[in-house]
Amino acid sequence: MANLDVTLLPNHWYAVAASTDLVGTTPIAASLLDRQLVIYRTAGGQVVVLDDRCPHRGASLAYGQVKDNAIACPYHGWQFAPDGHCVHIPSQKTSARIPQVAKVATYPVQERYGLIWVFTGDRDRAGQTPLWELPEYEQPGWRVVQGQFDWAADYRRVTENGMDVAHSPFVHANSFGASGNEVIADFELEKSDRGAQIWIPIEPKANYRGSFNLLGRKQEPPKVGRSGAAFHLPNITRIDIEFGNFHLILVGIHQPTSATTTRSHWLHIRNFLTAGWADSGTRRRTAKLFQEDQRIIEGILPLRDRNEISVASDRLQLHYRQLWQQQCDRSLVTQG
Ligand code: FES
Ligand SMILES: [Fe+2]
Repeated sequence: MANLDVTLLPNHWYAVAASTDLVGTTPIAASLLDRQLVIYRTAGGQVVVLDDRCPHRGASLAYGQVKDNAIACPYHGWQFAPDGHCVHIPSQKTSARIPQVAKVATYPVQERYGLIWVFTGDRDRAGQTPLWELPEYEQPGWRVVQGQFDWAADYRRVTENGMDVAHSPFVHANSFGASGNEVIADFELEKSDRGAQIWIPIEPKANYRGSFNLLGRKQEPPKVGRSGAAFHLPNITRIDIEFGNFHLILVGIHQPTSATTTRSHWLHIRNFLTAGWADSGTRRRTAKLFQEDQRIIEGILPLRDRNEISVASDRLQLHYRQLWQQQCDRSLVTQG
């Protein structure tokens, strides 16, 4: 019987905050399912992630302050270096010994795509585990807008929604979901190690014509485009919309903040309207999209209680479930 409980798949990089959440050296709290983390940036710019629990009396380090490169606990001022070791106990004479066990667990960290990523699981594997790739982020000619959206839902439900192409004409009828796209054409699953992608043809909404004029393009907008949907284990989704040379990408990196809550770090990337003036409209429209989904996603049954029927257009999500389950089962065997 499959274990449907929410869990973190070990040995993956998880985004736990946006780079812009870190202001100066002020520490912030973050959660990754049942782990409470504290994140701070040293004066030199290095990002440090530790368990948010002081080993002295258990205070939250997130209320502390960064001194030199160490984080000082707000309760009795013990200081912990970036490697987690306690380096100073203010109440002791300087000659007194610092207990060896006075240390806090730390995590391997990367800062990329405007996000802070931590590696969970076996830390020896962090170096050999590549981060998911988003080439357009670093290429010229693309505009990136980023934000966050919070859900009261299991991250796997949010991840499945982020790759679900059949819901758009219904849930997003008032935004980008065009009627006429209800029937999902047969598609191939292009499988990779930790994910899969599909492509389907789509027709633009009639009012896209207005958008094309706005873009100053004189040519007729293409009658047919294509949409890609993809996932990358354990919690990343990517939607591509292409009409002719216009290409838009919506990525969701869905951070499990608890068993029943998720924070989506989203990136909206486009190769048109690349000046900044369009960004506030992008933020507004992206928030609207997520709000359209929110009512549905927060209202559906928890995965563990599911008793569902699937059809051919659900194959991408089914493949996600299958890969997720395989990795989950494998990690349970390894731990057992
Ligand atoms: S609880 Fe942190 S120093 Fe006492
Ligand atoms: Fe949606």
